Amino acid sequence: MSAGSAVERVEIDGDASHGQPPEFVSASGAMDAVWRMVDRVAATDVPVLVRGESGVGKDVVARTIHARSPRAHKPFLKINCAALPASLLESELFGYQRGAFTGAQNDTKGKFELASDGTLFLDEIGEMPPEMQAKLLQVLQDGEYFRVGGTKPIRVDTRVVVATNRDLEVEIARGGFRGDLYYRLNVVSVRVPPLRERPEDVPILVEHFLQRYARRYDSGLDILPDDVLDLFVRYPWPGNVRELENLVRRMVVLGDVRCIVGELKDPKPIESSAPTSTPVIAAPPTMTATAALERLGILWVAEQDELPLKDVAHRAQVAAEREAIGFMLRRCAWNKRKAAQKLQISYKALLYKIKECGIVDPRIAESLP
Ligand SMILES: Nc1ncnc2c1ncn2[C@@H]1O[C@H](COP(=O)(O)OP(=O)(O)OP(=O)(O)O)[C@@H](O)[C@H]1O
Ligand SMILES: [Mg+2]
Repeated sequence: MSAGSAVERVEIDGDASHGQPPEFVSASGAMDAVWRMVDRVAATDVPVLVRGESGVGKDVVARTIHARSPRAHKPFLKINCAALPASLLESELFGYQRGAFTGAQNDTKGKFELASDGTLFLDEIGEMPPEMQAKLLQVLQDGEYFRVGGTKPIRVDTRVVVATNRDLEVEIARGGFRGDLYYRLNVVSVRVPPLRERPEDVPILVEHFLQRYARRYDSGLDILPDDVLDLFVRYPWPGNVRELENLVRRMVVLGDVRCIVGELKDPKPIESSAPTSTPVIAAPPTMTATAALERLGILWVAEQDELPLKDVAHRAQVAAEREAIGFMLRRCAWNKRKAAQKLQISYKALLYKIKECGIVDPRIAESLP
């Protein structure tokens, strides 16, 4: 399946998008099932929980739900719940009355109001502070709320779509996420599968990004040699579509296919095979620190207008945990219970982390050419 508009709309968090469907491509049965589910829920008003590892396309799915809904011509607003402390998040979501706090000079609408009749996309919902979880639950139950410092209830008809790369069930068990909010939000859940579960998508994604970036950088590189494409299809892509996009973009910018292939053939930096004495994010002597951070999926600076530090920190945490967990798994010969003990986390938490970090058993990685 291949769909989406010819126009890519780049948005910063909170900008309104009026029904612009995002650009996406896919060819796998797994993603066909996702798009079918998207079509089914788009027509309704129910909250949707979009789940999946980092970089799989949750944003794309959330925007597509809106773009295919009867609300498509109304605003689509996004808030990253991990990016703001509770007090700021509250005034962003619900707005405030003049005089509610120092600097509140005018009555100001929150995103719930601004997105009324449209869709509000709450990204990284797993990171929402507990006090805000309680307030969100209230809006979902009552359809109304008060602005900060306000006394008049505000009624809204805002469709809520949320996304997370966390295992919310584990978060509930740990006490970090409210079970009642989870049940409210999880009316329909759409899981976007990691790229390693849908290798059929790799060629069409490569073609899509090659075309996009070859056009943008006026490069002649618009097709990959068969052996390289084959390697791409077999690679486990721990950073999912974002990693693939980033790699293709670098290939186009550098105009060099083979240097990238070298990296894929030696997946050590990603699979945590560096000797223990090596610093976690050390750049090999031939690589700049930026290139090393890009390689680890922490940073990519080309074409990046915005670089939220919170996101960088989260990716750095995942990369560092991937190193530590990979090291301990190898030391324990992939005995996960033993590794969990030594990492001082529960077995369940380790399974979640392995999934979150995209760690692949090296015996599978070894089968790569
Ligand atoms: N099917 C697809 N077709 C084309 N581009 C895609 C597709 N899926 C993802 N992308 C692109 O890959 C990148 C990552 O996707 P997206 O931001 O939606 O991931 P995400 O799951 O929201 O990641 P995160 O958990 O880090 O927020 C984006 O540039 C997006 O446009
Ligand atoms: Mg996202």
